[in-house]
Amino acid sequence: MIKKCLFPVAGYGTRFLPATKAMPKEILPILDKPLVQYAVEEAAEAGMLDIGFVTGRGKRAIEDHFDVSYELEHQIAGTGKEKSLQGIRSLIDTCTFSYTRQITMRGLGDAILTGQAIIGDEPFGVVLADDLCIGDEQGVLSQMLALFKQYRCSIVAVEEVPKNQTGSYGIVDGEALGDRLIRVTDMIEKPTPAEAPTNLAIIGRYILTPDIFEILRTTPAGKNGEVQITDALLQQAKTGCVMAYKFKGRRFDCGSIDGFVAATNYYYDQYKKGGC
Ligand code: UTP
Repeated sequence: MIKKCLFPVAGYGTRFLPATKAMPKEILPILDKPLVQYAVEEAAEAGMLDIGFVTGRGKRAIEDHFDVSYELEHQIAGTGKEKSLQGIRSLIDTCTFSYTRQITMRGLGDAILTGQAIIGDEPFGVVLADDLCIGDEQGVLSQMLALFKQYRCSIVAVEEVPKNQTGSYGIVDGEALGDRLIRVTDMIEKPTPAEAPTNLAIIGRYILTPDIFEILRTTPAGKNGEVQITDALLQQAKTGCVMAYKFKGRRFDCGSIDGFVAATNYYYDQYKKGGC
């Protein structure tokens, strides 16, 4: 039903300097797999097989990762190492990959608007690959897709965060429609704990309807001088409908050292148990 998924990866990844000086943050591995591969796997599981990247300077490694390396494959052909490439090879065989560049880093909203060239006029997923999500039973995008089928409007994934962390997120408020679903009436980007109406934080998973592009085109720069997707979504919520969904599963903020180490420990435990 939704075929396209957008991956804005143009950010500088300053929290991971110097590691991200010459390497995209999204290529940092959790165990032996880059963050961006976990993210594309989640999109593919949801049936979103047309993968679009909004890249920037210094992000070429992402394109190379989603391409065949004939020399390498020839080198390890017939050895036990072949199986290490099976996962990425199957993504390359089942998905298509498109790239467009954000020329100036004007914020996530601007990166998504840049992706219109790839998306066109249809609903689409958005994944921020530095949020590594492990869904219960099914991936977070799959869970959101099931809701989209019902409501046909933009959906953001949210989780409860400690009140003293609201300043790192877009925070939503609204009318509860059930245990996990909220119809959004308000959204604030990076509020102080005192300003925050709730502790429901938007994480890096969205399903957006294409009218968001028209809204983004006229959304002025907001917090930190960046075009914020939160501001555009608030306008969409006011004129139409936006849902916030408390996903089933857990998320690691791998854009931060603490989250990255927690994700590594989690996957290492699974690996030791023979689970991955
Ligand atoms: P972040 O706020 O995590 O920024 O962006 P960042 O540059 O990646 O990392 P830090 O904070 O400097 O360490 C959230 C997402 O939006 C993308 C980023 O690539 C990331 O996936 N983004 C942000 C863009 O694509 N373009 C922008 O102008 C800003």
